[in-house]
Amino acid sequence: MSNVAVIGSQWGDEGKGKIVDWLSSRADVVVRFQGGHNAGHTLVIDGNEYKLNLLPSGVVRQGKISMIGNGVVISPWALLKEIATIKEKGVKITPENFVIAENANLILPVHQALDAALEMTRGEGKLGTTKRGIGPAYEDKVARRGIRVCDLRHPEILKEKISKMMFHHNILLAGMGADTMDANETYDKLMEIAGDILHYAGVVWRDLDRARTEGKKILFEGAQGTMLDVDHGTYPYVTSSNTVAAQAAIGSGMGVDAVKYVLGITKAYTTRVGTGPFPTEQDNEIGQFLGEKGKEFGTVTGRKRRCGWFDAVMVRQAVRVNGIHGISLTKLDVLDGLEEIKICVGYRLNGEEIDYYPASQVDQAAVEPIYETMDGWSESTYGARSWAELPAAAVKYVRHIEELIGAPVSMLSTSPERDDTILMRDPFVD
Ligand code: GDP
Ligand code: IMO
Ligand code: MG
Repeated sequence: MSNVAVIGSQWGDEGKGKIVDWLSSRADVVVRFQGGHNAGHTLVIDGNEYKLNLLPSGVVRQGKISMIGNGVVISPWALLKEIATIKEKGVKITPENFVIAENANLILPVHQALDAALEMTRGEGKLGTTKRGIGPAYEDKVARRGIRVCDLRHPEILKEKISKMMFHHNILLAGMGADTMDANETYDKLMEIAGDILHYAGVVWRDLDRARTEGKKILFEGAQGTMLDVDHGTYPYVTSSNTVAAQAAIGSGMGVDAVKYVLGITKAYTTRVGTGPFPTEQDNEIGQFLGEKGKEFGTVTGRKRRCGWFDAVMVRQAVRVNGIHGISLTKLDVLDGLEEIKICVGYRLNGEEIDYYPASQVDQAAVEPIYETMDGWSESTYGARSWAELPAAAVKYVRHIEELIGAPVSMLSTSPERDDTILMRDPFVD
């Protein structure tokens, strides 16, 4: 068995979509295991851009099976819209090549209304969510109030569940001064599309178990990144799911040994969209340079991403908490032309040096990065497809990152295009 999990090692948008698409040529099944349509994964194939939110990034390849696991929260409307859009681009999506877990929870309009209302009440302390209803849907899941895909098969129970759920939420919405929601309206809207969703519903854990028995290769596609993980990230400025590699097993219904190789997708600098601490942020001309050159605008919300230097302490922590075997370093080309490049190699907190990112929100905001400065390079690495094409200073930068984070670079990405990728070690091969 040589299954691979692709996860983000920073704050998301590391280029997971591109790498999953590239690796999917070597896989049989691609499965999403957490998050929802807060994710925005971009693939560029021969100049054609695909932006995926819920669909696994393997869908564009013929002959592959794509799955949405139980750990994902699914907005049925967003999913159907995305399927329609991608079909218009000539991609085939049928129940034979696309399955959604019948035990996945749904995101309903009330979750989106709650997400927006809660952000309003937070005022200055808002989290900067994508307002897709992700947090409230996960809250309902653990509160055992959630509506699942399989509930769409049983209208009577569905009606009762929605009514109970709405009773709970309407008290909260009214308390926040927001409009309350009508349970019957949600029920009717859901019943209109129930058949379209059930068309793709299946028993994902069993399909994956069968795939494993048949020696098929499974690629787990993570969304968001380690610093947005609800346990290991910059809490409370995080998403509401576990984004770390261990979630691949839970969120798809496989055993803990399902993943053989954890590939951490890592940007050659750092970005973050939304609020929260960001020690290496460059709110200056460096940040502007990175943002413009890297086209750092959110795929989902269009918001400008905050940019800063590479934080080796944070990525080293991500290597440990995920069990990362190797990283895929992306967007190295964005650093082309910088005279010097800084890397954060430690933090200073209350006069002391520390070598990890502390958990407290107060300490996370207070740490000051300790930088090392390296020479930049003036040559272009954009589109490079071999090590030999990289300038010596770029090679030195990559090697130093490996050393600092304690994991090798397995892949290097040098442009948004699928094939502008250098493979050092195939994660699917032992
Ligand atoms: P994801 O959420 O991790 O899948 O990443 P996004 O798709 O949100 O953001 C990554 C952006 O960088 C996308 O626009 C990609 O097309 C682009 N990208 C990916 N790899 C590279 C790279 O190596 N170089 C450059 N210049 N752009 C890249
Ligand atoms: P991909 O998969 C970057 C951020 C939001 C916000 C926080 C909580 O494309 O890397 P949520 O809507 O999840 O409750 O928002 O998480 N966020 C992301 N940032 N990339 C993502 O996904 C993200 N998904 C959520 O901006 O700060
Ligand atoms: Mg993204």
